[in-house]
Amino acid sequence: MAFDFTPLLPAGLPPPAARWTGLPRFNFTGGNNDPDPLPVEGLMAAAQAVLAREGRTLSHYGLHSGPQGYRPLREFLAAKLKRDAAITATADDILLVSGSLQALDLVNGALLERGDTVIVERDNYQGTLTRLQRLGVTAVGIPLDAGGMRMDALEAVLKGLQARGVRPKFIYTIPTVQNPTGTILDVGRRETMLKLVGDYGVPIFEDDCYSDLIWSGERPPALYAMSKAQNVIHIGSFSKSVAPALRVGFIVAPWAVLSRILALKTDAGSGALEQMVLAEYCSGHFTAHVPALRAALKKKLDTLTEALDEQFGTAAEFDYPKGGIFLWVKLPDKVDTLKLAQAALKDGVAINPGPDWSTDAVHSKSRMRLCFASPSHAEIKEGIAVLADVCRREFGVPERSANIARRGT
Ligand SMILES: Cc1ncc(COP(=O)(O)O)c(C=O)c1O
Repeated sequence: MAFDFTPLLPAGLPPPAARWTGLPRFNFTGGNNDPDPLPVEGLMAAAQAVLAREGRTLSHYGLHSGPQGYRPLREFLAAKLKRDAAITATADDILLVSGSLQALDLVNGALLERGDTVIVERDNYQGTLTRLQRLGVTAVGIPLDAGGMRMDALEAVLKGLQARGVRPKFIYTIPTVQNPTGTILDVGRRETMLKLVGDYGVPIFEDDCYSDLIWSGERPPALYAMSKAQNVIHIGSFSKSVAPALRVGFIVAPWAVLSRILALKTDAGSGALEQMVLAEYCSGHFTAHVPALRAALKKKLDTLTEALDEQFGTAAEFDYPKGGIFLWVKLPDKVDTLKLAQAALKDGVAINPGPDWSTDAVHSKSRMRLCFASPSHAEIKEGIAVLADVCRREFGVPERSANIARRGT
């Protein structure tokens, strides 16, 4: 009989992981990327070049760059962040990590303890919400509108918490192509947020991993760049702009806090080969690669919105996102997307149900998040048709007569 580990497990562990049973036929879940624009040839050439030149430095844990990660990649990032996000940072202000998920763990580890409160956008990244829950931290959700987090609601919450003697540890925000809503906080709201956090003495944790994927190619300056008080921790990633499986993300922060975060990174460095290949590739090709990726993603979004219009008609409501890889869809109130997700999976369609992506179970009950980046155009069309059939079978919507195209965006 197999050894029983159960009595040895500490309290508070997450439930056991399910075994992987393969990819669903129509996969609208996760933050996966579009395989077609992935620059495989460019990465191969970069790997060849960088390994031929510097491969032997892999004999050292930190290459010859020290614990913050491969220096040429940090230098590339410092220049890119200056150009795109108006961030003034040097390679010494940047820590390379194993995806921005590790950045979340490290920043949380440095700042949070059980019983703390943080402020977040109400609809949010599941990876953030589950982490906060596991840490025993209360996440207060702020509603969003078409312009992102609502500043009137933020001010009211800050005021309410202060009245109760609660000082939130930080405001976690995805201001530039929010996950899942795809909204972008404009400069005016950014200024308001910075003014509010200044008044209430709360820092900002800015998660900016989708900021390269804005259809217009233009982004507002990062909160990190706009903050005079140096009260922002900024994180980003190559997952959405190049490839998620590379697992390369980064943290930009003032040394006073970066030094505390670095002290928590006890894994002897994140995968170095990926950092070397990215630096080699990005220095010559990033600026040409990203617009091609954006164009491919926008075409997929158009395929998805057309398929939803055709199959769901007015039963599927959404704001056309300004960039990114997700569409946040509202279905009629009677639809429970947790149940829809289970039923659809049996027919090969995987969706992310709203309640997994929100602090508000009621508001998100009939919402779902669809990733349009990884399925092919044909899979998007067929998958949405199957999803509409399942939804009609389970909830009676969309009615067949609802197939009215509404949007020409
Ligand atoms: C808002 C947000 N933050 C962080 C991550 C984690 O990304 P990665 O660890 O691949 O950089 C994701 C992934 O989807 C995300 O949507």
